[in-house]
Amino acid sequence: MTTVLTFSNFKGGTGKTTNSTMTGIELAKRGFKTLLIDLDPQANATNLYLKTKENVNGEFVTFGQTLMAGIKNKDIKATIIEA
Ligand SMILES: Nc1ncnc2c1ncn2[C@@H]1O[C@H](COP(=O)(O)OP(=O)(O)OP(=O)(O)O)[C@@H](O)[C@H]1O
Ligand SMILES: [Mg+2]
Repeated sequence: MTTVLTFSNFKGGTGKTTNSTMTGIELAKRGFKTLLIDLDPQANATNLYLKTKENVNGEFVTFGQTLMAGIKNKDIKATIIEA
């Protein structure tokens, strides 16, 4: 069974990025197969995860294609970054 959690608000600075990224990490730590989809063009959640991965693993990480490119190509595999 898949559960979709959406963190959205028209107003800026209301904790969308903070709550979605921390919830994603916590669910993964608890053993849930978790995919965080960052639909914000600012990409703050993506940058936070990439920087965290770089700090933890000491490796520079980037992604193969943007989510929009993946949707256009009807294949988002190259968009996904494994933790
Ligand atoms: N539960 C919380 N308690 C206190 N401060 C918080 C909490 N959640 C987020 N913040 C702080 O509020 C600010 C805005 O948070 P965040 O960047 O997550 O909001 P956002 O909705 O993603 O903003 P934006 O609209 O710019 O994308 C940050 O400084 C963050 O540290
Ligand atoms: Mg945000």
